[in-house]
Parts: sequence; structure tokens; C-alpha cells
Amino acid sequence: MAKLCVNVDHVATLREARKTDEPDPLEAARVCVACGVAGITIHLREDRRHIQDHDLTRMRAELRTMLNLEMAATDEMVGIALKERPDQATLVPEKREEITTEGGLDVVGNQDAIARAVASLQKVGIPVSLFIDPDPAQIEASARTGAQLVELHTGSYCNTPAGPERERELDLLVREAAHAQELGLRVNAGHGLTCENVAPVAAIRGMNELNIGHSVVARAVLVGIEQAVREMMRRIDQATA
Ligand code: PXP
Repeated sequence: MAKLCVNVDHVATLREARKTDEPDPLEAARVCVACGVAGITIHLREDRRHIQDHDLTRMRAELRTMLNLEMAATDEMVGIALKERPDQATLVPEKREEITTEGGLDVVGNQDAIARAVASLQKVGIPVSLFIDPDPAQIEASARTGAQLVELHTGSYCNTPAGPERERELDLLVREAAHAQELGLRVNAGHGLTCENVAPVAAIRGMNELNIGHSVVARAVLVGIEQAVREMMRRIDQATA
């Protein structure tokens, strides 16, 4: 059954808009945990535009729920992960000029460097997930790096209006989730998921974790984070019941 991991980056985005100390992403994470989410996800970006190093340190010290660190496969970030020991690391591509993570990792083109980062993290017991497009070649290359998980990029599916084109994007996710599982990879998914589009992705056979950030935080601004999280959990539970 698919589980919700809430990405609290954009709570930090709001704080960083004023470089103050509120709202605190750790406080948001506490509410998510009290609602029963499976995990908290944060992305420590190279440019520190939202989550800061101290957020990671404080979350690691306090949270007992699964902490998933999204990170670029750079020496700096691998060093931070080795020190802070998140429960899971998700390797993502990162470009300074992008508004959000745009595409999946090119594991085919960077297999050796990614495999080295995977090995360094796994050596200290951190399971590694690779954020990739639902592309057969990327899935096969991901399996060759030794990573235990992949996170399928749902952006194309989410950005396509409901209709036959979106159905084709969903079919691709269904097919490549099965492909990844045949190769022994566990399958997560995320990016752009909302209450409106999450159900078919949550219902994919073997789906493990859904990483959802923007739409939960956006809804939380209007109704509070507890209600926003509960609404999303209800959609996921209904889809997998
Ligand atoms: N998964 C990954 C790897 C991401 O980079 C992001 C965005 O930070 C998400 C999931 C969450 O996407 P969204 O904020 O659109 O829900």
C-alpha cells in the first residue's frame, strides 16, 4: 500500500522569503508525524534556497519517523549525508537556475559517478533511491548502480490535462514500475502530485512511498497543515483500499 511522505521544503521557502525563523519546517514535520505520515522528505539544495543545514540537523536529532534526504550526488552532499545519517537518501539532479527539479537523473550517462555515491551511502547503511524518469534504460542503469529504490518522476503525468494523453503517461508509470520491481528495485514516485491526480499513481501495484510537497503546503496555507495532510492521506488510502 502506498505511503505518504510529506516534503516540507516549501515551509522553509516561506521562512526564507523573510530570512526569519518562521514558519519552522520542523514544526510542520511534527504535525505531519502526528497525522501518521510514513516519512518526512527534505531537499538540501546546493544553493540553500529553502532547507538549511540546521534544519537537517534538527530534524535528524528529533524525528523518529523516516527521514528522506533528497540531494545531488556531489561530494559535499554525500559528506553531509554521511555525517547526518538520514534514513534514506534520494539522489536528484540539480540545476541552480531551475524553479524545481525538472527532469530525472541521467543514470545512463553518469552511471559510474552515481554508483560511487550509492556505494558511499550504502556503506554506512543509508538506503539509496534514484529519482528518474519512467524510462526503461534509466531503470536498467539504476539497477546496475546497486541502488535499492527508484523514485519515478510523475511530472509529465501531472502536467498533462486529464484525457487520453494523461492515460498514456499513466500507462508508462505502471509499466516501468513493474519493470523496476522485476529488477528487484522498490518503487517510489513523486513530483507534481495533488489530491486531484494522486489516486491512479497510489494504486500502481507495489507502489511504496509517494513524496508530495507543494500541493500539501499550498493547501496548508489555507486550511492548516493537519487538514491538508489528512486530505491527502485519505485520497491515497481510498485509492489503495
Ligand atoms: N520528489 C522529488 C525527487 C522532488 O525533487 C520533489 C520536489 O522537491 C518532490 C518529490 C515533490 O514534488 P512536489 O513539491 O511537486 O510535490
